[in-house]
Amino acid sequence: MNTKNMLDDIKDVLYSEEQLSEMVKRMGREISEDYKDKNLLLVSILKGSVIIMADLMRAITIPAEIDFMSVSSYGDDTKTSGRVRIIKDLDKDISGYDILLVEDILDSGKTLSYLMNILQARNPKSIKICTMFDKPHRREVESIKADYAGGLVPDEFIVGYGLDYAQKYRNLPFVGILKESVYS
Ligand code: IMP
Ligand code: MG
Repeated sequence: MNTKNMLDDIKDVLYSEEQLSEMVKRMGREISEDYKDKNLLLVSILKGSVIIMADLMRAITIPAEIDFMSVSSYGDDTKTSGRVRIIKDLDKDISGYDILLVEDILDSGKTLSYLMNILQARNPKSIKICTMFDKPHRREVESIKADYAGGLVPDEFIVGYGLDYAQKYRNLPFVGILKESVYS
């Protein structure tokens, strides 16, 4: 049996469980205020946003609906190419909704840029972006900005709280910086 401990692969803890919880509660308060007269639909981009989605929706105090979308980007394990394939589309017709895209991390912005174009064409009332983490200095698509962001991340590869490396580490309850030896 493989008894390897994920903690052995983590260089540093970037955000603890307590800090993550505070960040999500703050975003939940802001969103509840900003969307109180709107028709909020939270759209979780699977799989990375599964944990933030579950926490954020419970930090929001106004009525909201949820939906899920799953996309796969053609790239290697540590960066995106920007070409995105829809694996699972939304169940809903989004016209008339104020969409809040819920993402794990905003890096180059290519994934969200591509998704925003697809979703804008379906005529929602509005679309905004909520991301748990932002790497603003890595942005390649300037038009993509986080309307709500939990925390900033230095130019390091992070895992945990939904974020993966090669599909692993999503189940770490905190966010850590992955040791370079794991992926180089
Ligand atoms: P973008 O299209 O470059 O903005 O890439 C965003 C996607 O890249 C995220 O949804 C993640 O899947 C992945 N990603 C970017 N940086 C990290 C990281 O530090 N850890 C884990 N995944 C990351
Ligand atoms: Mg990923």
